[in-house]
Amino acid sequence: MEINKKYKPTYHASVPFGWANDPNGLIYYKGQAHFFFQHYPHAPKWGIMHWGHFVSDDFIKWKVMPIALYPDQQYEEECGCCSGTAIEVNDRLYLMYTAAQITRQRQCLAYSDDGLHFDKVDLNPIMSAEKLSDEISPKDFRDPKVFYKDGTYYCIAGTRILSKDDYDKVTSLSQPHGGEVDINDVAGGDLYTSSYGNLVLLKSDNLLHWHYCGKLIYPQDNIDEAFLSLNGVYECPDFVEVDGHQIVLASPQHLPQMGNKYENLHSGIYMEGELDYTTGHFTIHDIDEIDSGFDFYAAQVMSLPDGRKIMIAWKEMWNRTYPTESDRWIGTYTLPRELHFHDGHLYQTPVTEIKKYRQNKMTHTDITVNNSSVKMTGITGNKIEIVASIDVGNAKKTGFRLFKSEDDETFVYYDAEEKCLVFDRSASGVEIGGFEKDVNIRRRDFELDDNILKLQMFLDVSCLEIFINDGRYTMTGNIYGEPEIDTGVEFFSYEGEATLLSITKYDIVVE
Ligand code: FRU
Repeated sequence: MEINKKYKPTYHASVPFGWANDPNGLIYYKGQAHFFFQHYPHAPKWGIMHWGHFVSDDFIKWKVMPIALYPDQQYEEECGCCSGTAIEVNDRLYLMYTAAQITRQRQCLAYSDDGLHFDKVDLNPIMSAEKLSDEISPKDFRDPKVFYKDGTYYCIAGTRILSKDDYDKVTSLSQPHGGEVDINDVAGGDLYTSSYGNLVLLKSDNLLHWHYCGKLIYPQDNIDEAFLSLNGVYECPDFVEVDGHQIVLASPQHLPQMGNKYENLHSGIYMEGELDYTTGHFTIHDIDEIDSGFDFYAAQVMSLPDGRKIMIAWKEMWNRTYPTESDRWIGTYTLPRELHFHDGHLYQTPVTEIKKYRQNKMTHTDITVNNSSVKMTGITGNKIEIVASIDVGNAKKTGFRLFKSEDDETFVYYDAEEKCLVFDRSASGVEIGGFEKDVNIRRRDFELDDNILKLQMFLDVSCLEIFINDGRYTMTGNIYGEPEIDTGVEFFSYEGEATLLSITKYDIVVE
């Protein structure tokens, strides 16, 4: 399929053609990083799902491999092979995924001995809600995360916990046939009146026969009621240990906004706490959004042999317009991010290997501005990394104008009055529309230490990833200007003085 590459990022993974959403089955297997993804290869729109496949030696250059899973079984009719995970057992690679149909979602297994060709097991579907518990909605039961601990396999999946009323409604559905299916048939549904999203824990001795343990999210004092009454599913869960802390990642649909948090229609959250392997209960110590930008969803983690945990998310958002649609491709991913947990919070830093691709370093120090905006010699480009440290002084606002040309610019600044970092793409270029919430300005609240703001920013043709204060917060978003000319970078302050203590730019060059 011929695509137009105008907005194609150069060092972020993106779909070769057609459509891509969630990263799936991130695993380091037989000496290589494998990254599967939700893929519709026939058009730039969500359609019956395949598992696309990338491999990499350094987590930056992703080689496109043949499609790993095709929706070729009767139980995959309608919506195909939806999201899931990978696990290695005795040198064999297993993929566990959701065979989705309009009225039911069941879990399936496929395996491979070379990491390339996959066979589906005869017992598929191996996990159906009806056989596990009356609580689990057969219609919304998806995105299994499988892991092994002390001789037992566990699975965490997203679902709706059914009330008695809804149980009758959901289980009486008949199976419609034919016709085109869209993503709302997999991910939506207005059928429920009193059932709420949750995550469930299941266990097995052999990956084939499963038992229900219970639900992860239960009433506890330190979480907002909204997490217990989610009108949606906690999609794409993951479960990892980071620096000795148990972390559950999930993508709750329709999580209501809380202050400046969870401003997107659907969110990405992490919960740090403790899993009870018998009841499934997850006692939450810390819960927060993972990324406070526009385009971040379905984050998954790969565990590396050297102990690092690296996270990759879909760098798009549901229910908005996609300006690359007319270029015949939709679907990009974040840089892999190394996870750390300290001082009670999750930290994210860009994968170390990105440093290999730095070129043409340029540094400046001590640039003071007073209600003005300056260019800096050699600090330009839109396939670059910028590392900066700012003393915000007494300025009301200070930060950067990026992807700048006469017509376009993207703002990243600290608003000292509101005490938040702002990522504003309203003047970036092509307007992005879609859902009812604002899609052009995102804010992350936090206070500065000693008036200093530290930013590490990755600009890549049509996207910006911002790591704030050594990865304590991140903000990510796509922008669609004129990549040929939107290469300007300026430092500015508004209503007061601020000092750029240091700025370093690197070109990121991936051949
Ligand atoms: C999340 C999601 C998953 C589902 C997949 C379908 O983005 O809706 O819950 O498995 O996408 O492509």
